[in-house]
Amino acid sequence: MREHAQSWIARWDAQQQFYVPHREALFSTIITAVQEITGKPDPVVVDLGCGPGSLSVRLRDRIPGAKVVGIDTNPLLLALAQAAHPETPGLRFVSADLSEPGWSDVLDGPVDAAVSTTALHWLPEPRLHAAYAELHAKLAPGAILLDGDHLTAEDTAPTLARVHRALGRSTTTPDDTWEQWWDAIAKDPTFGHHVVPRAGHDPHTETQALSTHVKALTSAGFTEIDTIWQHGDSRVLAAIR
Ligand SMILES: C[S@@+](CC[C@H](N)C(=O)[O-])C[C@H]1O[C@@H](n2cnc3c(N)ncnc32)[C@H](O)[C@@H]1O
Repeated sequence: MREHAQSWIARWDAQQQFYVPHREALFSTIITAVQEITGKPDPVVVDLGCGPGSLSVRLRDRIPGAKVVGIDTNPLLLALAQAAHPETPGLRFVSADLSEPGWSDVLDGPVDAAVSTTALHWLPEPRLHAAYAELHAKLAPGAILLDGDHLTAEDTAPTLARVHRALGRSTTTPDDTWEQWWDAIAKDPTFGHHVVPRAGHDPHTETQALSTHVKALTSAGFTEIDTIWQHGDSRVLAAIR
């Protein structure tokens, strides 16, 4: 069961790597920033929209004392994360919907760092504002949010946004696209029954503008906000509580 889940997660990582070609460098940047800002061996970290736990696990591997809570709403991805890491100390995967008020009730006590990869752009703008405000209330003073996501400057610098898009384009062909991965796991006898219908990408409800994230973070009360890593329009946006 455990190995089976791990092999699906490896296939997930390969599929995601196509959409985020420098995904491991992005993960590594986020983890280094958590170490730098928290400065302690046992930070409490929340992974927002953790999927099958790719970032949570890498973070826990590099900071063995970290207590990582992965939050996601997708039952299949949570089932994979839980099956692959049933008893890893410091790793917990829980179901919560970031677009519903009260999602942060699954977290106890102040959080030292919040991390996220390619998840927060899924939230429509009003819900993103509410989620950042709720997160702000849960973070310890001086804590950091690190959001690794596709965030574009299309509205403020459209010509440069085109250049970033070209620079970020993947040059490889994936074994699985996003749709192929979901179609394949839906047929898996062990995990297929966890698959639920998913909303497709909708550029009208997603929040991909960097400026909107910065505005929402500012109004939630975050102080310093800046891009600390970028490749194409895939960037790590950091914000200090
Ligand atoms: C592209 S996947 C990325 C998963 C993971 N962070 C990674 O990098 O592999 C986007 C994730 O965001 C999650 N997600 C989207 N909307 C969410 C919401 N409202 N609440 C919680 N998770 C959400 C999805 O279920 C999915 O796991």
